[in-house]
Amino acid sequence: MKVAVFSCKPYDKRTLDVASEAASDIELVYFESRLSLETVALAKSYDAVSCFVNDDLSRPVIEQLAEYGIGAIAMRCAGYNNVDLYCAKAFSIPVFHVPDYSPTSVAEHAVALIMTLNRKTHRAYHRVKEGNFALEGLMGFNLEGKTVGCIGTGRIGEAFCRIMNGFGCQVLCHDLFENERLLALGVEYVDLESLYAKSDIISLHCPLNASTHHLINRSSIEKMKDGVMIINTSRGALVNAQEAIDGLYSGKIGYLGLDVYEQEGKIFFEDMSSHIIHDTVFQLLLTFPNVVVTGHQGYFTDIALHHIADTTLANLEQLQHSPDAFQRELTAIC
Ligand code: NAI
Repeated sequence: MKVAVFSCKPYDKRTLDVASEAASDIELVYFESRLSLETVALAKSYDAVSCFVNDDLSRPVIEQLAEYGIGAIAMRCAGYNNVDLYCAKAFSIPVFHVPDYSPTSVAEHAVALIMTLNRKTHRAYHRVKEGNFALEGLMGFNLEGKTVGCIGTGRIGEAFCRIMNGFGCQVLCHDLFENERLLALGVEYVDLESLYAKSDIISLHCPLNASTHHLINRSSIEKMKDGVMIINTSRGALVNAQEAIDGLYSGKIGYLGLDVYEQEGKIFFEDMSSHIIHDTVFQLLLTFPNVVVTGHQGYFTDIALHHIADTTLANLEQLQHSPDAFQRELTAIC
């Protein structure tokens, strides 16, 4: 099986090389380019493609993949909001993802954003480097006793709630389904309105779909506590960035931590330091002292990268050796 691996950085290649050593019947060919309508021709003559979070797997691209006879789409990530699953299903192209590669890696990154914004280590680092040891402007708050709202209590949300519970926070949750393990831990499930009204910190861990698109917008922000901290390590379009900026200007939002951004596709994962970023909303976000943006690195730990590579290879092998069993499992995803 020949697999065209898109959006493949050197660190991906290193882990995929190790994972594919044992899979002699799978040949991986690496492309740094994102998959898009412009680059889809690279997939010609391959049996499958492997893609990442910002690859374009919309209908026109999948139609082209189907024309090339692509037999599978192996996502190297948990989220698959960028894949038109209906279209893939219509062309009988199985789509698989890596649902459980390391929920703690993303949860811990959400906590890193909370800790940075709270104790202002991003600012302290630069001050100390310049010999400025003044503390004015660096005051934080104790997390113990604070109320933390978690929207989405699946794998990552659960890991996040466990950590915040360990800090001594009161944890409020909202999800379509209650997580028994979290209930046993003592968290409380509430409706969104209550979560907004009571939380000092709100962290997003739900997927991006039609019901969660721009979940954080002017109207939801108005319902939150003054000075609320909002953390998004899930998908950029959960937050209406312009309306979040308005919330920052008014002081309603006291802190904003983003690992993802709605328009990240053209800039994240690339060295843009010598380029002008033509996105005034993004540029504006970077100017706030109480905003920390990281470039979609929540997943980026050693363990997670190895799990992603191992699971991707295991999926491809399973597909190759027992396609029927695999097809049955896929119905759940599609
Ligand atoms: P999961 O599928 O285990 O959990 C998602 C949870 O969200 C489920 O419990 C589901 O019921 C809930 N949910 C769905 N719609 C909802 C709604 N409208 N309101 C409230 N809850 C809702 O997914 P997992 O592994 O926890 O990942 C969550 C998200 O994190 C992914 O969809 C992905 O977008 C993002 N992610 C970000 C990464 C990063 O590097 N920053 C890496 C991996 C995932």
